[in-house]
Amino acid sequence: MISDVQALIAKSNVNEHRVQTLLSSFDYTKYHPMNEIYKWIDQIKEAHPDLVTLNYLGSTYEIRPIYYFKIGLPADKKKKVIWMDCGIHAREWISVAFCQWFIRELLEHYNSNEVINKALKNIDFYIVPVLNIDGFVYSWNTDRLWRKSRSPHNNSTCFGVDLNRNFDSNWCTIGASRNCSTLTFCGTGPASEPEVYAVQQLVNSIKSEILCFLTMHSYGQLILLPYGYTTNESANHKEMLSVGEKAAARQAQIHGTQYRVGSASTILYSNSGSSRDWATDLGFPFAYTFELRDNGTYGFVLPEDQIKPTCEETTAAILSIIEYLNEKHFSSASRIFSGTLWINLSFSVLIGTYYSLF
Ligand code: ARG
Ligand code: ZN
Repeated sequence: MISDVQALIAKSNVNEHRVQTLLSSFDYTKYHPMNEIYKWIDQIKEAHPDLVTLNYLGSTYEIRPIYYFKIGLPADKKKKVIWMDCGIHAREWISVAFCQWFIRELLEHYNSNEVINKALKNIDFYIVPVLNIDGFVYSWNTDRLWRKSRSPHNNSTCFGVDLNRNFDSNWCTIGASRNCSTLTFCGTGPASEPEVYAVQQLVNSIKSEILCFLTMHSYGQLILLPYGYTTNESANHKEMLSVGEKAAARQAQIHGTQYRVGSASTILYSNSGSSRDWATDLGFPFAYTFELRDNGTYGFVLPEDQIKPTCEETTAAILSIIEYLNEKHFSSASRIFSGTLWINLSFSVLIGTYYSLF
């Protein structure tokens, strides 16, 4: 319990008007309202045409465009995909700030950072900086602690669906409510919300390429594995756990922040209809929910002076996961067993055998 959340909100002082002009002066250590984020999205696209394409994902209930970036280096073979979405829950502003930070990280270090460089050659990042835009705008303008989307229900007596209860994954069976006035309202059916429907469509269309599905939330300092809807473990639970624990260890090295790692149903709570569980059941080898800072001192109203350290440590954690994927799928050792190298090797052995016989 936070004794006086309103005082925290007043102190956080983020409503002052700012004029933002150049991308180079964009302040990644501040929270930004949606009009500034739309402008930033456009500037990123303009500044990095070689690495980035800006794509339309779909529309929110209130008819705002949802965009995603595809970020990667050109390649002559079919690339794998890492998915990352931010801002499913409106009040979790640090999640949105993280997506922006991480995008800058990819774009500024694609040449200098080995892990990033190797990843971008083999993988396209699909990143949705803000999914629940209607809710996000509402959290800026009306209710800082708004969580859900903004679609009207029950003759407009209540508003919004918990988008992380609306995915087509054991929909509304546990830890979710059919009562539209609750925080965990699951909607009127699986993917009833346009924001969720749009994600499901896009992800389904690239599902054979996805290596890793990441969804960013706050708070609690957790790296959550599937499942939320059952205490059963996913097929590669052990591998996901060890990769998650390594990521948490890297994360702690940056500023000493401790994250716990485990399945959602065992270390947070049970819930059905989450995007992570939905992604897992599509067969993606890795799917994690990050619950970023803090542990409850400020909760959803994380002060701006924690944006930088939170983003730094979380970048380290995610790069650790990417490093593992690089090694597993794109190292020379893993290439020997696939494709042309293997054929070439077989030929050399055959020819060697031929000459040794005669
Ligand atoms: N982002 C979380 C969610 O999806 C909220 C977790 C915050 N609560 C907590 N006790 N840590 O519901
Ligand atoms: Zn959340």
